[in-house]
Amino acid sequence: MSEPLLAVENLRIDLTIGGVHHAAVKDVSFTIGRGETFGLVGESGCGKSVTALALIGLLRPPLSVGAGAIRFKGHDLAQIGADDMRRLRGASVSMIFQEPMTALNPLSPVGRQIAEMFVLHKGATWVEAEKRAVEALASVRVPAPDRRAKDYPHQLSGGMRQRVMIAIALACGPDLLLADEPTTALDVTVQAEILELIRDLSAARGTAVLMISHDLGLIANMCARVGVMYAGRLVEEREAEDVFRDPAHPYTAGLIASLPLLGARARHGRARLQEIEGVVPSVTAFPAGCRFNPRCAERLERCAADDPAETALAAGGRVRCWRHG
Ligand SMILES: Nc1ncnc2c1ncn2[C@@H]1O[C@H](COP(=O)(O)OP(=O)(O)OP(=O)(O)O)[C@@H](O)[C@H]1O
Ligand SMILES: [Mg+2]
Repeated sequence: MSEPLLAVENLRIDLTIGGVHHAAVKDVSFTIGRGETFGLVGESGCGKSVTALALIGLLRPPLSVGAGAIRFKGHDLAQIGADDMRRLRGASVSMIFQEPMTALNPLSPVGRQIAEMFVLHKGATWVEAEKRAVEALASVRVPAPDRRAKDYPHQLSGGMRQRVMIAIALACGPDLLLADEPTTALDVTVQAEILELIRDLSAARGTAVLMISHDLGLIANMCARVGVMYAGRLVEEREAEDVFRDPAHPYTAGLIASLPLLGARARHGRARLQEIEGVVPSVTAFPAGCRFNPRCAERLERCAADDPAETALAAGGRVRCWRHG
């Protein structure tokens, strides 16, 4: 098999408080192949965003990469220098965020902000770059792109701003796009359009995507393979289909049961949503053993004492659960 585009190996991300390192993310490993769309899913605070930020060199204190490797196109992004990372960012790996307003410059017309990518990374002249920016706006299906290019971010709707972010992120033809909850802040109908846009453009250009969401339904629709995170750990990694048919981790099963449609079906048509009982532990107070054990209905005796190792599943994929270990 050829080498994956991205290989995250035993990544640890430390949250350092008063000189004490807390592993906000621990031993997370996954790969993304060229052109593949991989999904990361899990409840708020499980470490999805910090994982993505680590991949693009944007972790800032009190967060830092504590251990592990992030192999991408011959580099280890866990070790790479700031200058090299700046060259890769935008050109080879780029990111879109939940709220594009925070990522866009409020004082610069959006066309100019897209053009900047061509000037910075492709050596284009400003005249050339502004022309390509209009084409880029057209490619993300912004109507009247030549006029919209002159607009400032606040003049655009949330959906249009996210299209601009996608245009910036894809301007230089990156190999990998990190999409961190790209549609959470948008209306439902706009959400669907933006997801379709990301799917179409990445497929047409062969861009690999790391899609991040707390919504397992969305992830399963968009991605062939899924990683489920809980409290800083990757607890399950599978083909999306397999996750739904036969979740291996009790946490994954809980996520599926809490999905409106699938959950209802799984409970023989009862319409009430089932929630996973208990709360997500905070980074400074992760329980011993399996981090999910206090909330787990299928807990064994050893779960409170021993941290489960990763087990390969016969059907493919991996799980961290003593019931499989
Ligand atoms: N700048 C920061 N300072 C301190 N703690 C942080 C910081 N950023 C993240 N954390 C902590 O790190 C953990 C992981 O956060 P992260 O933002 O990656 O979660 P997430 O899975 O993206 O959640 P959400 O679904 O809410 O976006 C959380 O416990 C969070 O409180
Ligand atoms: Mg997040």
